[in-house]
Amino acid sequence: MTPDEFRKHAHDLVEWMAGYMENVESWPVKSSVKPGEIFDKIPDKPPLHSESFDSLMRDFNEIIMPGITHWQNPNFFAYFPANTSPASILAEMLTATLGAQCMMWETSPAAAELEEKMMIWLREMTGLPSEFEGVIQDSASTATLAAILTAREKATNFSANIDGVEKSGVLKVYCSDQTHSSVEKAVKISGIGSKNLVKISVRDDFSMDPQKLKTAIIRDKKNGHIPCCVIATLGTTGTTAVDPLRAIGEICHENNIWLHVDAAMAGTALILPEFQWMLDGREYIDSFVFNPHKWMFTNFDCSAYFIKDAGSLIKTFEILPEYLKTRTRGKVNDYRDWGVPLGRRFRALKLWSVIRTYGVEGLRNKVRNHIGIAKELSEMISREADFEILAPVIISVVCFRYIPVGYNEDQINVLNEKLNHQLNDSGKLYLSHTVLNGKYTLRMVTAQTNVTHEHVEKAWLLIKDTARGLKS
Ligand SMILES: Cc1ncc(COP(=O)(O)O)c(C=O)c1O
Repeated sequence: MTPDEFRKHAHDLVEWMAGYMENVESWPVKSSVKPGEIFDKIPDKPPLHSESFDSLMRDFNEIIMPGITHWQNPNFFAYFPANTSPASILAEMLTATLGAQCMMWETSPAAAELEEKMMIWLREMTGLPSEFEGVIQDSASTATLAAILTAREKATNFSANIDGVEKSGVLKVYCSDQTHSSVEKAVKISGIGSKNLVKISVRDDFSMDPQKLKTAIIRDKKNGHIPCCVIATLGTTGTTAVDPLRAIGEICHENNIWLHVDAAMAGTALILPEFQWMLDGREYIDSFVFNPHKWMFTNFDCSAYFIKDAGSLIKTFEILPEYLKTRTRGKVNDYRDWGVPLGRRFRALKLWSVIRTYGVEGLRNKVRNHIGIAKELSEMISREADFEILAPVIISVVCFRYIPVGYNEDQINVLNEKLNHQLNDSGKLYLSHTVLNGKYTLRMVTAQTNVTHEHVEKAWLLIKDTARGLKS
């Protein structure tokens, strides 16, 4: 492709992108294609000779677009969002054009230094302690893996990396039974073993019971096991419950246990002064992750990982083959030593673009608005006798179900599952679910970048009508 051809296609593409953003609501939120439908439309063999970009775009529109679920549609209320914003997309275009591989300072000093500065900005914005240093990881799962590996090394005096984990005795990791599955995955990968992940039961509000945590740690120590890491969640995936950080932190401090905080979604709410209460006990945190790629309008992937003692993270991951030795080593941040992958994208640029374009106050307004919309939704639900709210509404997630009279618990579960599928199949909105105390629960997340009160009000009318129609 010549530069002139590129210029033409790029201009056309920008038109396509702007049109998509303007009209995203006209697409069904959830793709309705059947398994294998897209696969079968793509030729079995690659083309031997060059094809035009126009023909690729034709196929993109005809084959790919029907198989896309539109996360940027404001009627997307499922999971947690993966938000974008124009400022982030523009920066991603620059990142793609530069194509820099930012594994260490020398392979793009600007990427390393902008990343260092953005992590300071995010640390200040979220109110994390000033001694924390940060690095951008691809996902919260990777950050949590880094935390558990570092905790494992600290607990074994950095010997598990050398001798293997089986020589270290039985290490134990603790989290609540509402914790995201990425913790169990990390415990498996770390060699600690998922049977050594202790799931602590939760209180009525779905937050970890610190007394039960204490009891489990005492029991494990008595049995000669080594408590190595506790994961506290600010904003669990099911209900956005907030684990009591101070009480958990004190237990970790008394027992010399690494405290990792998973704030993947709710971390963004920390930019609001009225949500700083979630960080009470921050002095006990060893590591902390939150995802700007969820709720800070920054394209996936961008996960902000903070650590109190960056030296122990580097000691865990550092490896120095001849071909990676540089003259600046030790004087700069070589982020390849701060996590699993060697190669790294230039991800700080989109954060810079988002924070500068919105301004901190602009970000606060947007997040505060989402939280207000969730509150309004919960009030609308509470007004209906045949619906109930199933968990406290803390940030932007509302958990509820339909409870018509005359149905038993099993029938209510079946009805709500049916309701969820029927709503999602309509293409008008997309909800996901969880199970709370055996109850099939609909989760509605009001945190898509462009969601408004009107979207949620319309969605709520549809949910009510569909539910009541199911019964008859
Ligand atoms: C609380 C929590 N932690 C971790 C994750 C995993 O995030 P990622 O996809 O960035 O690995 C999620 C995903 O939704 C989550 O809700």
